[in-house]
Amino acid sequence: MKKNLFLIGFMGCGKSTIAALLAEELQMKLVEMDEQIEQEAGMSIADIFEQYGEADFRERETALLHRIRQEGNCVVSCGGGVPMRVENVQAMRAGGRIIYLKTSPQVIYERIKDTTNRPLLNDHMNVEYIATLMEQRKPKYEEAADLTIVTDQKTVAEVCKEMVDKL
Ligand code: S3P
Repeated sequence: MKKNLFLIGFMGCGKSTIAALLAEELQMKLVEMDEQIEQEAGMSIADIFEQYGEADFRERETALLHRIRQEGNCVVSCGGGVPMRVENVQAMRAGGRIIYLKTSPQVIYERIKDTTNRPLLNDHMNVEYIATLMEQRKPKYEEAADLTIVTDQKTVAEVCKEMVDKL
């Protein structure tokens, strides 16, 4: 197994929950990218978007990814937009394996419909918008992935087991 495991996928696909379980099982360090960016900035993702703009947030993601890549032995829950940049995909590839958690728009919507901490969805919290954005992003997720796991109708433990078996 390579140095790091990067979990990618759309907002609400379960990256954070699955990364936590996987890190525990494999005795690896857990890195939650959004949380770390928030801690380092001393403000929420929503505030970073509002005060500095999305481009600034994307720079923070790329800088953090380069640091993680060097560190090794991390299970990384990546922000949903991370694989959109070629540079980020290259950094992940060089630093470990990339696992795509594939989840349907309906399941995503049911999971996150009552949350307000994702600036890209705040004004468009509906299945149609989620499906449209997901269609745009899907090719990047698929292209980046070393391994794809469909998560619909599976428990966190099942997803985790499937991942460990296939790694
Ligand atoms: C984003 C996903 C979010 C967070 C930010 C932007 C995206 O992370 O990084 O709101 O562009 O998909 P999660 O995928 O952990 O929700």
